[in-house]
Amino acid sequence: MKYPPINSKYPHMLHGGDYNPDQWIKNPEILDEDIRLMKLAHCNVMSVGIFAWDALEPEEGKFQFEWLDNILDKLADNNIYAILATPSGARPLWLAQKYPEVLRVQANRVRNLPGERHNHCFTSPIYREKTRLINKMLADRYKDHPALLAWHISNEYSGECHCPLCQDAFRTWLKQKYGNDLDKLNYAWWTAFWGHTYTDWSQIQSPAPNGDTKIHGLNLDWMRFVTHQTLEFYKNEIAPLKEITPNIPVTTNFMGTFEGLNYWEMAPYIDVISWDNYPQWHGNRPDWELASDVSFVHDINRSLKGGKPFMLMESTPSMTNWQPVSKLKRPGMHLLSSIHAIAHGSDTVQYFQWRKGRGGSEKFHGAVVDHCGHENTRVFNDVTEVGKTLEKLDDIVGTTVKPEVAIIYDWENRWAIDDALGPRREKKDYLLTCQSHYRPFWNRGISVDVIDMDADFSNYKLLIAPMLYMVRPGVTERIEKFVKDGGTFITTYWSGIVDENDLCFLGGFPGPLKKVTGIWSEEIDALYDDDVNFIVPEKNSTLELNDEYEAKELCDLIHTETAHVLARYKSDFYAGRPALTVNEYGKGKAYYIAFRNNNDFLDDFYEILVDKLSIKKSLDTQLPLGVTAQLRTDGENKFIFLLNFAPQKNIVDLKQVEFLDILSGEKVSRKIELPGYGLRILKKVL
Ligand code: GLA
Ligand code: GLA
Repeated sequence: MKYPPINSKYPHMLHGGDYNPDQWIKNPEILDEDIRLMKLAHCNVMSVGIFAWDALEPEEGKFQFEWLDNILDKLADNNIYAILATPSGARPLWLAQKYPEVLRVQANRVRNLPGERHNHCFTSPIYREKTRLINKMLADRYKDHPALLAWHISNEYSGECHCPLCQDAFRTWLKQKYGNDLDKLNYAWWTAFWGHTYTDWSQIQSPAPNGDTKIHGLNLDWMRFVTHQTLEFYKNEIAPLKEITPNIPVTTNFMGTFEGLNYWEMAPYIDVISWDNYPQWHGNRPDWELASDVSFVHDINRSLKGGKPFMLMESTPSMTNWQPVSKLKRPGMHLLSSIHAIAHGSDTVQYFQWRKGRGGSEKFHGAVVDHCGHENTRVFNDVTEVGKTLEKLDDIVGTTVKPEVAIIYDWENRWAIDDALGPRREKKDYLLTCQSHYRPFWNRGISVDVIDMDADFSNYKLLIAPMLYMVRPGVTERIEKFVKDGGTFITTYWSGIVDENDLCFLGGFPGPLKKVTGIWSEEIDALYDDDVNFIVPEKNSTLELNDEYEAKELCDLIHTETAHVLARYKSDFYAGRPALTVNEYGKGKAYYIAFRNNNDFLDDFYEILVDKLSIKKSLDTQLPLGVTAQLRTDGENKFIFLLNFAPQKNIVDLKQVEFLDILSGEKVSRKIELPGYGLRILKKVL
């Protein structure tokens, strides 16, 4: 149950950051000082060259690698590794000037001016060729360099291009998808609505604010195409690297739940998943609640490759400069939020950025080294503490977790929900709903996988699919099999509404999920923000809910077919109608939560299910509010991360069980204290 390290050259936790020596070429003394400081901060890896194309190729075909040779040599001489970037995230100005087709065209069909970053067409043959060439030069030059640990492909792929080349590529992609059959496309997109029938492929255009925005099938296929085209661009980038350096892993930094790309489509082509994490700590809701939401995203990144450790490619050592308010991390939070990633399966803690630049829009973004230039700062000390801590975690490198619980968070489903008009324009909140179903598990220290609807369900005991609005072909069969075989399935209001083309299921909602849930949804009521209804648990039901609970925002008006009622609505014209049901199906059960609720309900509901199903906790104890326990294991040892996201101290009762506290080296049992924003890493031999 242990994965190999990211690169066997260096089987340790990685610690470092985005490093921009290309901005300091004229200051060699700074570069020397950097190396001294990196060692002092216990950093062992730097991401180099992310936006350095113009420093590498200042004129077309004229390359200069000497500065990079020098940096990589220095890093290697000091046992620091490089995650070497391909520079396509920002192109040199000469390239855009000479070949305007490389510039991105916006949805309104206006071509961007040169400048900014992430401003390129993913289709342009010229841009692809130029990218392939510079990547090949980098691979040829550094293939045997001792510093080279991994490839960082481009940076935060995002955005879309609507240029004529992309329009053509979109049509070609559609022809292939619909077998060259325009009728098939017209039906899938329901183009008879408002008389939008296409009679020739050339009439198809990407969605545009000054054109079509309301053909949902078109919108969905466009989003799919954007992922496809970005992936094609990525494949073109990695081709020379895979050929020249087949043993160097490639990654590209993701952005959490970024809606613009379906990361599940990309994951198979990436050796190690990495992501950039910038939570807004110390805001107006408790940090532990935010921590739970961030945990959800860490778990997506671990689940994307079936449990394989990922990389925290970027985080800030102190503050950002782009959030509405860029608050400093309070004492303790830097170590805690860094180890938070490790607890969920990261094998790295990396920062944006190593050193603050003198100019540019990120000169006030947090960095390990501030403008003062020395190490005598709070932030530098915090970073050093993380470095020293990671050095004690060698045994945890490559370990993973096999959760019994999975939550489906599906990108295409999100696209479709967000695009739909109704039943509410605002607060559709798919992501927030999934995160609210996650929180009861976080509070109890229960590991969860966050998967898409095409993932394998067979290893879980409990499968939760909040708002499964879209049900793609094959998914129903797999859910039915999961339940038949003894699994417990939970779904909610606004599920089983449309197919993969956003066409409504006929014959009653929740469409194909009717059989497994044993209910029929006749209507859905959207409540105004201040409206509340309640649900009342059924007496003597199989689920021991004691309280009445709030129902808000969305109330599904359902009929049971084969399901049993567990709770009913309390008021309004649907008082007495079912609000929570369970259907016995094969050896398992399917619950239907018809109403949107708040944490009180979900906490009580999942408490009962965790108990009924004997779902394993990372630690067999009741955790105080604000503390989670997360597990990693190699199959022989359990590593338990106790994280206190509350500003005040908390006590955790380990009971009679003895653990090794990895950081202090002491044996611990019974009651242990976690200071505010404090943590412990405990080891238990199985
Ligand atoms: C208007 C339009 C209809 C329909 C309704 C929806 O009345 O004429 O075509 O869009 O709004 O409320
Ligand atoms: C992103 C980018 C970095 C930097 C940081 C700032 O993650 O990848 O280049 O701009 O944001 O937070």
